[in-house]
Amino acid sequence: MSAIKPHGGTLVNRIVEGAEREALLQAAAGLPQIPVNAWTVSDLDLIGVGAFSPLAGFMNKEDYDSVVNGMRLADGTVWSIPITLTVTNDQAAALAVGKQAALVGETDGVVYGVIDVESIYTPDKRHEAVQVFKTDDIEHPGVRKLFDRPDVYVGGPVRVLNRPQPEKFNEYYFDPAETRRIFAEKGWRTVVGFQTRNPVHRAHEYIQKAAMEIVDALFLNPLVGETKSDDVPANVRMKSYVALLENYYPKDRVFLGVFPAAMRYAGPREAIFHAIVRKNYGCTHFIVGRDHAGVGDYYGTYEAQDLLRTFTAEELGITPLYFEHSFFCTKCGNMASSKTCPHGKEDHLTLSGTKVRAMLRDGICPPPEFSRPEVAKILIEGMAEQSKTYAI
Ligand code: ADX
Repeated sequence: MSAIKPHGGTLVNRIVEGAEREALLQAAAGLPQIPVNAWTVSDLDLIGVGAFSPLAGFMNKEDYDSVVNGMRLADGTVWSIPITLTVTNDQAAALAVGKQAALVGETDGVVYGVIDVESIYTPDKRHEAVQVFKTDDIEHPGVRKLFDRPDVYVGGPVRVLNRPQPEKFNEYYFDPAETRRIFAEKGWRTVVGFQTRNPVHRAHEYIQKAAMEIVDALFLNPLVGETKSDDVPANVRMKSYVALLENYYPKDRVFLGVFPAAMRYAGPREAIFHAIVRKNYGCTHFIVGRDHAGVGDYYGTYEAQDLLRTFTAEELGITPLYFEHSFFCTKCGNMASSKTCPHGKEDHLTLSGTKVRAMLRDGICPPPEFSRPEVAKILIEGMAEQSKTYAI
């Protein structure tokens, strides 16, 4: 097993199997039902497999208040993002503290789990938004999601009875217990985790490989849960990751596995969350570059790094690796950052997301200094297949 301890010390396992599962499924038929969407099913499953260790359920009011106000669970453990279950007022009326409820997929009717209801409470969403996202602007995708959810929160430990089934790229889904075992089997003592919701461009590749110079291996762990509609869909991205690794990375020092969570776009706070969760998957290091998990202009370029630095190494338990904004410098003739390049902006290849999107839409590959041709080709094909526009 991986040497690095899960957050809180123990890898949580709330997946129920065999006779106990059968009994709970039978009991669930007689319980009040809470309809859950894909986002909540993914949170439930990530709690179940221990990716969100030490959480064993959706947050009770005490943990929620403590996380929202102070980025810690009530017992002092660092935790930055509320993980909550929502119901409408009408649905709440059918629930009672001390009783159970069934968590049922709102579109497929699958009983994904049961919750032992420990608390039912009405949050101050505006306060949550300002604390977690640093804004209550509904143009922010995370804030909009928060305000669109039902108004009442239900907290308590969960048990998972059915797991969401991926439609594609099944072979890249690994639970934390599996990644920990695999990293150990490969003999990797240090593994750097890389979060991304984008295709891997040259700047991403550069910081990954810079990190790989000092650790045993890279865990490329793209987020494939819900993202905003103009982000590149996960299926297209997955093809591009596979092509990139095939052509440019050493097979024995990289592991590709998805992170099936929803994107919050909470910038600095999400960077802490992303790091802690990767620790649970067995990573010892975690990359945080420019505007990690940011959106629009809501966060400063290095705000996520600054926030992470306010926690001690002991309380995080994973080592963040910080990177400056990276680019290709035509004078240096290689990838660089302001830490390594003495030249001016005029020598740096910078392409706006809008510009690259337009090029890909027109079937034009961005320069190889920006994106590997194998990656660009897949993005062009993906764009042609879908009429939507993607952020890149
Ligand atoms: S994120 O929302 O998942 O953080 P993205 O996929 O763009 O977005 O970034 C993945 C990681 O790469 C983040 O740690 C981010 O800070 C970093 N990153 C992205 N682009 C650059 C860049 N040009 N220079 C340095 N770091 C970058």
